[in-house]
Amino acid sequence: MNKVLITREVPERFLTDLKQVADVEMYPEQQKPMPREALLAQSKDKTVVITMLSDQIDKEYLDSCPDLKAVINLAVGYDNIDVDYAAQKGIVICNTPDVLTETTAELGFTLMVVTARRIIEAAAMVQDGEWTGWSPYLMAGKDVYGKTVGIYGMGAIGQAFARRCTGFGMTVLYHNRSRHEQAEHELGVTYADFDELIARSDYVVCTAPLTEETRNKFDQQVFKQMKSDAIFINIGRGGHVVEEDLLHAVKNQEILAAGLDVLAAEPIDSDHPFLNEPNIVVLPHIGSASVETRDAMIQLCIDNARYVINGEHPLTPVNKTR
Ligand code: GLV
Ligand code: GLV
Repeated sequence: MNKVLITREVPERFLTDLKQVADVEMYPEQQKPMPREALLAQSKDKTVVITMLSDQIDKEYLDSCPDLKAVINLAVGYDNIDVDYAAQKGIVICNTPDVLTETTAELGFTLMVVTARRIIEAAAMVQDGEWTGWSPYLMAGKDVYGKTVGIYGMGAIGQAFARRCTGFGMTVLYHNRSRHEQAEHELGVTYADFDELIARSDYVVCTAPLTEETRNKFDQQVFKQMKSDAIFINIGRGGHVVEEDLLHAVKNQEILAAGLDVLAAEPIDSDHPFLNEPNIVVLPHIGSASVETRDAMIQLCIDNARYVINGEHPLTPVNKTR
């Protein structure tokens, strides 16, 4: 019998079909990642693991699982996995693209508006009993409508984000490794080189996957080139950003504000310096977190696992294993 490990608790109703073809073990925690030791120990005899983005699937891990055929990550991003090494070992890696595109773009767009209009700060003021009455510039923020947005990463999520921006009358610039002429035609977006993108945009939005090329891309130099009233939004990965540089840029008004759904090290403690900055909004990595979409992501992981176990091609592999 094939053996499957799921590294976080998912609802039992997803497991019925999988249990027909495999022994399924599940780490019985919803909130906390599997400790490394337990992850290594419990993966040793597995043919398939369904992992979370908080699990580090590195060489040590891959070398310690001789029977492993597939790692299926409950996320579209897979920077937590050494994909090339897995490919060398003939281990297929799968992710959950497409099913989360609209939900993630929606969160990104919401975060942009929420940051621009100071929604979190304003609601906190009311909650703290500090609302003393109406005044002309009370919690006055910055318009989104009609502004220029620069999207870094024009994959599926970047495109879905751009579609929302066109509804707000925004000028949409994008930067991507390669041009997307189809997106240019369909969405009316304009390619810009990176320097132009960051210099011209009122909103700079990172939706790119994290790679060695994009790691620490947003640093002091980049924030300095942004407009002094620019707002930086990150729904990609925290690793794209040099966080001290971002903090410095916001504190010193080199940019106006930032909205972050992702951080370099997650979670953060309540004494993290970002949390003392009213102009930095931090969300707990909830880009794809609607119930419908999380259901669809889990189902896709389960389906991928079943295909692998049945000796068929999985639905959404990210690497070529031969
Ligand atoms: C979430 O960040 C994902 O990659 O799906
Ligand atoms: C990246 O995750 C994208 O699809 O834009």
